[in-house]
Amino acid sequence: MDASQPVITASAAKLHLSPTLEINELVHRVRATGKKVIHLGFGEATFPIQEEVLQCHREACNSTSYLPVAGLGELRERIAAYQSGRLNIPIHADQVVVAPGSKPLLFALFDILDGDVLLPRPSWVSYEPQIAHAGKLLFWIETDEHGRHNLTEKALDNAYTSAVDAGARPRIMLINSPSNPTGQVFSKEQVSLIVKFCRGRSITLISDEIYSDICFNAEDVQISAFESAFGEDGTVIMTGGLSKTYSAGGWRVGYAIFPSSPVGKAIRQSTLAYASECWSAASAPSQIASIKAFSSSRATSEPIGSAMDTYREAVNCLHRMCTTRFYHALQNCGIAVAEPKGSFYLYPSFQPYASQLQKIGVVTSQDLSKWLIEECGLAALPGSAFGEKDERQGVSGGNLRLRMATSYLYFSSEEEKYSKGYALLKSAAAGEEVSLPLLEEAIAAIQAAVEKLNTQ
Ligand SMILES: Cc1ncc(COP(=O)(O)O)c(C=O)c1O
Repeated sequence: MDASQPVITASAAKLHLSPTLEINELVHRVRATGKKVIHLGFGEATFPIQEEVLQCHREACNSTSYLPVAGLGELRERIAAYQSGRLNIPIHADQVVVAPGSKPLLFALFDILDGDVLLPRPSWVSYEPQIAHAGKLLFWIETDEHGRHNLTEKALDNAYTSAVDAGARPRIMLINSPSNPTGQVFSKEQVSLIVKFCRGRSITLISDEIYSDICFNAEDVQISAFESAFGEDGTVIMTGGLSKTYSAGGWRVGYAIFPSSPVGKAIRQSTLAYASECWSAASAPSQIASIKAFSSSRATSEPIGSAMDTYREAVNCLHRMCTTRFYHALQNCGIAVAEPKGSFYLYPSFQPYASQLQKIGVVTSQDLSKWLIEECGLAALPGSAFGEKDERQGVSGGNLRLRMATSYLYFSSEEEKYSKGYALLKSAAAGEEVSLPLLEEAIAAIQAAVEKLNTQ
């Protein structure tokens, strides 16, 4: 072999381990020195899996054959019915593709669709490398100062114009609401503005709705760009999955729903061809168990208040309670943060402490993340992982932004998740007060961090 020749392609060489995994490693290193670290760096849902879904998975463990590339027909019907019930629009099983997680589907879509990409800043860590790997150019759409979420017509126009001026062809846009990292939810008006913008410029819109069940205001659950996917010119694709609401990321089940328009059908066909050459099908036991998970009284003949409805409600209620309480604690500490509306993330800015942080040499979001882990026992991802520019100043600047995930604040071990988890979900469903010792520890750690800064 010629050692002077690279063995991997230039685009693969640009791929790195995801920042989420990097932070995990730093947390392990600091813990190995005997220090305690509260982990707010990883957005993994951690409730115990719903019992009937678990039972279905157990019973299906001897299903070892490959399933159809598009996914089990019954599962696709259930997903279509579930989303149809949520959005009150007709969706058919033949619009759905099931895959081992929504991540590979997003990867496939960026690869398949023609043109360059518009993406709100900040956005989930994986979109940017996926877009780059697909050989596409990315143009950021700047978001508002406060929640770092809302998009104005001007911001959309600016991103589009800078793409065109750079000689690019912006033909794809992705939005994610409820959002990772901001915890914000688009209003109906925002979604209409975005859809109108995309329609007017023949842009295919991917709407990542993996957190759509976790909305703190019940009415927000029904807000979706997919509503406008109708008609002959529908070009909105929705993605979702089992990982967040059902705490089953490791089972790897995700899906995409394509518009029924001719162009929607064509994109779906290409996605199926891609899937057939890439992952074949999602895991058989996981798909069988998912049929149960996606059941809902809204969509199927299940009675109102069925076990799955109750489970989803309990999960939503716990995320709301925990994330909102942490939000108030951050606010009381003088940290700039928007009130969370969904998912399980907060996106605070430590800009109010910029001068104290500067004294200890903390000037970028990466410095801040490192200082919090090493000196204060709190792990959170830096804004730079979500596309923020660390060199920019100001509240909107990413230099002092962090993404904090509250999903690890429920159980201190896998064992505890199962010994206490079901009772916790039951209490939440009954509207009872619940105690979360790890949440209290996280609040104490943030208060201690701020005290440290105040004595600078
Ligand atoms: C915004 C967002 N989209 C997509 C995914 C991918 O989830 P999965 O591949 O487990 O369906 C995640 C996971 O963290 C996410 O946060």
